[in-house]
Amino acid sequence: MAEKARAADAYAVGAREPLLSIRDLALDIAGPDGMRPILRVQALDLYPGEVLGLVGETGSGKTLTAMAVVQLFPTPHARITGGSVRFRGRELVGAGPRELAAVRGRRVGVIFQDPSTSLNPVFPVDEPLIRALRIHRGLSRAAARAEAERLLERVGLPGLVGKGRYPHELSGGQRQRVMIALALAGDPELLIADEPTTALDVTVQAQILRLLAELQRERRLAVIFITHNVSLLSGFADRVAVMYAGDVVECGPTAAVLQRPQHPYTQLLLAAAPRLGSGARRLAAIEGLPPSLRERPRGCAFADRCPRAAERCRVEAPRLAPVGEGGPAGGGAATGDGLAAGEGLAAGAGHAVACFFPGGEAQ
Ligand SMILES: Nc1ncnc2c1ncn2[C@@H]1O[C@H](COP(=O)(O)OP(=O)(O)OP(=O)(O)O)[C@@H](O)[C@H]1O
Ligand code: SF4
Ligand SMILES: [Mg+2]
Repeated sequence: MAEKARAADAYAVGAREPLLSIRDLALDIAGPDGMRPILRVQALDLYPGEVLGLVGETGSGKTLTAMAVVQLFPTPHARITGGSVRFRGRELVGAGPRELAAVRGRRVGVIFQDPSTSLNPVFPVDEPLIRALRIHRGLSRAAARAEAERLLERVGLPGLVGKGRYPHELSGGQRQRVMIALALAGDPELLIADEPTTALDVTVQAQILRLLAELQRERRLAVIFITHNVSLLSGFADRVAVMYAGDVVECGPTAAVLQRPQHPYTQLLLAAAPRLGSGARRLAAIEGLPPSLRERPRGCAFADRCPRAAERCRVEAPRLAPVGEGGPAGGGAATGDGLAAGEGLAAGAGHAVACFFPGGEAQ
């Protein structure tokens, strides 16, 4: 009996299902000269209750990748043209409006960089929250007001309900607290935080980050935390995924990626990153430019900037593959049979890299 229970436990650990699983996601944006291929994300997994830091230079596709879960994009010209986005095992690519509505604002909450663009200036700040609570949780107006009061108090804004306070009357930090309460209104399992502290000054940044970390623990939230500031990741993120030119080029446990980066791009990115407490908040530039997304290169997208590029890199695109011996850690990695293209290569919580010549130092 005990034997059987142990076997079942082992299976449960091995079979830990990701909350979110992206495979070979292709997203294009229509432009004046036709469709431009923007995202080609081979693989990205997020497990229940874990914090995934998403990093990469501007335009690398962090926002579009995260927003593919709710399929709300900054432009109406964006189209998912292939691949798979599974949330709690359900396929969201090609899902109908009803299914997507159940995910948006409910199972998945979103916080953006600049709260002033997301809060409607003509409504008092408690109104959208009360409305969201009524819609997502089916509460009466009185119950929604009480819940709004409780939520706002939890994010550090007690006594705000019914006071008729408009967004412009609040500070940037207070507005971001309102946005956090709004993102939590549907009691989500996943929170997408897209550079939630970038628009704030340094002291307020630290307060908001602390609040997010507390809420993540209290509610066992899975979080996709998008940031340019690599120094924010070590205390907060369980795993890190590095994006370059619309794809994940390296991912793994935070300590492994930050201390033993394998991809030349990650190595350069970290070398260029501001040190903790240096005051600099954005990544310094890495020499060269990412490829024009209109003409995706046949080989590795980093080849033109890579100090290690070889002949093979220009003709063949590297797939995300486990680093080191024994394959990915975490038990969930499957490199075996019967998996869709891309599946298994980076699945699980292990360290994976898309490079023919990983490791070493890039400089
Ligand atoms: N509104 C838009 N209209 C047209 N193209 C867009 C738009 N938003 C994004 N793109 C294209 O998609 C690519 C990826 O954009 P995305 O916003 O996901 O990058 P990001 O990594 O979040 O960058 P940032 O760090 O600046 O927020 C961009 O390089 C751009 O080519
Ligand atoms: S595959 Fe080649 S070009 Fe691409 S990052 Fe690795 S070494 Fe550089
Ligand atoms: Mg972005």
